Amino acid sequence: MMTSIIEIKQLSYRYDKDTVLENINLSIAEGSFLAIVGPNGSGKSTLLKLILGLLKLQKGEIHLFGQEIRRFKDWQRIGYVSQKANSFNTDFPATVFEVVASGLTKRIGMFNRFTKEHEARVLDALEAVDMAQFKNRNIGELSGGQQQRVFIARALVSEPQVLILDEPTVGVDAENVNAFYQMLDYLNKSKGITLMLVTHDIGTISDKVSHVACLNKRLHFHGDSKEFEQLRMEDMSNAYGHDVQLLTHHHEYGGR
Ligand SMILES: Nc1ncnc2c1ncn2[C@@H]1O[C@H](COP(=O)(O)OP(=O)(O)OP(=O)(O)O)[C@@H](O)[C@H]1O
Ligand SMILES: [Mg+2]
Repeated sequence: MMTSIIEIKQLSYRYDKDTVLENINLSIAEGSFLAIVGPNGSGKSTLLKLILGLLKLQKGEIHLFGQEIRRFKDWQRIGYVSQKANSFNTDFPATVFEVVASGLTKRIGMFNRFTKEHEARVLDALEAVDMAQFKNRNIGELSGGQQQRVFIARALVSEPQVLILDEPTVGVDAENVNAFYQMLDYLNKSKGITLMLVTHDIGTISDKVSHVACLNKRLHFHGDSKEFEQLRMEDMSNAYGHDVQLLTHHHEYGGR
């Protein structure tokens, strides 16, 4: 059954005087893979921070797993990799294993013993992002894309049901973006993790995600990726005339 695990109603938010989010209504079904797109400064990160309880709700409602966000305590069910994760100080002397294990402190507390079971979880998380072979490597000795996978593993180690990623492909080169999305697809389909991702890869995402939300202070569009494709075609033909649609049409049948 498709149930909503994140439900947002009439949400507005302002930092000082400027309203950055206005009347957002959005519901995210369990098992979906949602991409949030929008220009710089359109409120994408702000929306994620509100969902994560990092910013205080001002107006509207957020329900997480059916519970009002103010009462919600089960934060280990929601994993998060921030937009700044890729500017993390990687001179910090820690191994890949240690970085991922640090994701468990919320769960086991700072001073409790690290058990064999915890170790197995760290290795599972590293395997899920295909980085187990690097477990003893220093975090600073990895490429940007590899580091990003390690940060995802750190978010996965507490076995969240939802994973929220803010521009995770920024440090990933074009060649590896595909492999990166394949890994996300695996987390979504095989591990059943609901994904919510902010991205500027507008051209490459629509066949990789189940839903798309276009944000620019207001939510201009929210629907499944097929509807989004349709909308993009209409936008193009409005902007360039109907020739574009003819070309696209021919292209669909493999000929020119
Ligand atoms: N802590 C803050 N205090 C005041 N204004 C802020 C703060 N954080 C963000 N803003 C402003 O709120 C607006 C939305 O910012 P936000 O970071 O949510 O945008 P974004 O869509 O994530 O952009 P980007 O694509 O650049 O990451 C911007 O105009 C930004 O300048
Ligand atoms: Mg942002």
